[in-house]
Amino acid sequence: MSEYEIIDHTYDVVVVGAGGAGLRATFGMAEKGLTTACLTKVFPTRSHTVAAQGGVSAALGNMGEDDWRWHMYDTVKGSDWLGDQDAIEYMCREAIPAIIELEHYGVPFSRTEAGKIYQRPFGGMTTRYGEGRAQRTCAAADRTGHAILHTLYQQALKHQAEFFIEYFALDLIMDQDGNCRGVMALNMMDGTIHRFRAHQTVLATGGYGRSYFSCTSAHTCTGDGNGMVLRAGLPLQDMEFVQFHPTGVYGAGCLITEGVRGEGGYLTNGDGERFMERYAPNAKDLASRDVVSRSMTIEINEGRGVGPDKDHIFLHLEHLGADVINERLPGIAETARVFAGVDVTRGPIPVLPTVHYNMGGIPTNYRGEVVTLKDGDPDAVVPGLMAIGEAACVSVHGANRLGSNSLLDLVVFGRAAAIRAAELVAEEGANHRPLPDDSAEPALSRLDRLRNAKGERPTADIRGDMQRTMQNYAAVFRDGETLATGCEKMAEVYDSYTDVGVSDRGLIWNSDLIETLELDNLLGCAMTTVQSARNREESRGAHAREDFTERDDENWMKHTLSWMDASGKVRLDYRPVHMTTLTDEVDVFPPKARVY
Ligand code: FUM
Repeated sequence: MSEYEIIDHTYDVVVVGAGGAGLRATFGMAEKGLTTACLTKVFPTRSHTVAAQGGVSAALGNMGEDDWRWHMYDTVKGSDWLGDQDAIEYMCREAIPAIIELEHYGVPFSRTEAGKIYQRPFGGMTTRYGEGRAQRTCAAADRTGHAILHTLYQQALKHQAEFFIEYFALDLIMDQDGNCRGVMALNMMDGTIHRFRAHQTVLATGGYGRSYFSCTSAHTCTGDGNGMVLRAGLPLQDMEFVQFHPTGVYGAGCLITEGVRGEGGYLTNGDGERFMERYAPNAKDLASRDVVSRSMTIEINEGRGVGPDKDHIFLHLEHLGADVINERLPGIAETARVFAGVDVTRGPIPVLPTVHYNMGGIPTNYRGEVVTLKDGDPDAVVPGLMAIGEAACVSVHGANRLGSNSLLDLVVFGRAAAIRAAELVAEEGANHRPLPDDSAEPALSRLDRLRNAKGERPTADIRGDMQRTMQNYAAVFRDGETLATGCEKMAEVYDSYTDVGVSDRGLIWNSDLIETLELDNLLGCAMTTVQSARNREESRGAHAREDFTERDDENWMKHTLSWMDASGKVRLDYRPVHMTTLTDEVDVFPPKARVY
């Protein structure tokens, strides 16, 4: 690949991605004195975290009694007992200092009359182990992600982290011993190729919502870190668990925050009935997301949807009044006006469950280190590689994430990765070992092959086939037959990628090439998702099988690991769920029936 000149860089750590997790890790590492590079394919404040609305959970107790142990219980229950309890304990305990830190860094949270951080109720968040309703979600109106992202970027600049903006990460650099040694990247602006050598490479590349047709995710959410991990011969974890947010705008898919229901909004069906009272008599509209999405889907499937085709549901907030809406939910009022033509002070918003979050991703421990199954050890660390945020599967969300635990995951584990990286770099010392001779070869030959791909199928056509297949065959409800068809169809889509055609052969702002590289990453995510879903013969959290309707702890309380080779062959194995705590301040929560 002599055609490509390589520009070399050496850092203690290189972070790929500049959303909430990437930025929190970046500035935390720079603050600890590590030389830190952050690569990002979009300008940092355009990362998808900017779209997070309703808030970030922490048991601050500003608006009523609260305790991080109750938060932990809710998260374990929300995960349908697939979450690792050591990691969940860590997240819920560390939530409190992590949010106070954010406040001190300058996040402009909404305030109570007493000047404390405002907290709203969110689905599945309770007091006293399910007895009452907690107000635990810290909010900056309905633009919490925007507020956090801008503050974190300012902190990263303050600590002199170095940014490589509009760089597209191509592949990990792995050595013969299975250690990660850095990452290859393309500068999209001028077409130059960059090799980043680092003691630790941190993947903070977000989710892969764009493998589905309708999602709340940005077009940039293409599972780039997941794709790199699969190509490095490492597994992904729990890919079958895909969260549908109950309230995406009908047709457009944009997010309408759960904060609407937290502030007192409610859902009705075509008969005007508040149907959630039947499905979740206690929590009602604030049951956890998988429960609400399934209930809405049942209403529609049984002919009780709204609209001429009875194919959606109404979300009401008109009764809240203009003052509450303008103060607490201004962004929602704008989204509903622009994307649904609705004045929310006068009428309901048409909504539909829409793909929102990937519980699965790159397996890590609670310090952010990537782990794999090696020589019988299910927690074997992959030296030099870390993952955080939605790209990672720690696993704190298990089979279903609670709303407002995602922004929390970003800041807690971004911070944890900074702490751990500082320890690891100190152990490693100042010197970097030489890279393998062929360190750039796999990334460059793939880039060159795709750049010169002369096949018949445009990238957009293959992407559309993938998105429709996933939407139709790996949906809110699944069964063996539809999943088997989904696997067959996805295999055909995957094979059709060998016939992809790229029309622009340049390297400067070649969006055709970048979208093709992104599709490569999405295809790996889609293949592992549908195959893991077919394999898991039970219902748990967001994975609702109509042919296996019950949770089966005896056979399936375990994480799925999925590897994929270049031919698209997926191999599955398992890791045990961690049923231990880190301290004796809390006991393990044993499995029980999950009712709201
Ligand atoms: O509904 C929302 O505001 C989304 C929050 C989340 O996914 O955590």
